[in-house]
Amino acid sequence: MKTSISITKYKNTREELIKELLNTDTDLIHIDMMDGEFVSNKQLLPNEVLSLTKGISKKLDVHMMVKDPIKYLRELQELDNINNVTVHEEIGNTSYYLDCIHELGLKAGLAINPDTEVNKILQFLDDVDVVLIMGVVPGEGGQEIIPSTISKIDELIELRNKYNLSFEIEFDGGVNKNTRNYLGKLDIIVSGSYVCLSDNMQESIDSLR
Ligand code: DX5
Ligand code: ZN
Repeated sequence: MKTSISITKYKNTREELIKELLNTDTDLIHIDMMDGEFVSNKQLLPNEVLSLTKGISKKLDVHMMVKDPIKYLRELQELDNINNVTVHEEIGNTSYYLDCIHELGLKAGLAINPDTEVNKILQFLDDVDVVLIMGVVPGEGGQEIIPSTISKIDELIELRNKYNLSFEIEFDGGVNKNTRNYLGKLDIIVSGSYVCLSDNMQESIDSLR
C-alpha cells in the first residue's frame, strides 16, 4: 500500500512541510487543488504547486477539486514528477477529462464525493487508473470521516475482481491511525492533518501502513 500525504494543513510553512516530507518514506505527496468554485476554498493552484514541488524527488498525486481541469492541466505540464491527476465525477464530462489526462501521458484518477454512489462511475472503471473515494465533503482538511463512505472500498474491490480490472483504490479524508483500522485493504491511503500536524511524521506514516 502506498501513502499519499496531503499538504493542506501545516504547522509553520508549506515549504518547511515539504522539506520534512522529503525526509520521510511517503510514496506520494497529495496536492489538494481547490479553485473557489467546485469548492469554496482556494489553494494550491498551479503557480503555487510549481514553486513548491518543481524538481522534488517525490511523485505528486494531484487531486483536482476544480470545475475546469483543463485550465490547470495545461499549467501543470511543466512538472515531470506527477504520478496521477484525479478529477471529480461531479463536474461531468468524465470521459473527456480522462482522455485529456491520458494524452499527457499521465495516470488518470476519478474521485467521488461522499454522496456519489459507486454505480455512477461503473462505465468509467476500465478507463481509470485510480478511483479516489472521498471520506469527507471536499474542500477542507481536518474533518471527521463519514462512516457511510467506507463500504465503497469493498464495493470497488468486488467490481475490480468481477470485471478483471486493474485500477487502484484510494481513500481520502479523515484518515488517522484509529480510523485506518476500519478501512481494510487499500492501494493508496491519503492522510493530511494527522501526519502533518504530528510531532513525528515518519512514525505517523508508519502507523497507517
Ligand atoms: C479534502 C481533501 C483531503 C484532505 C485530507 O478536501 O481532499 O485530501 O485535505 O486531509 P485530512 O487527512 O486532514 O482529512
Ligand atoms: Zn484530497
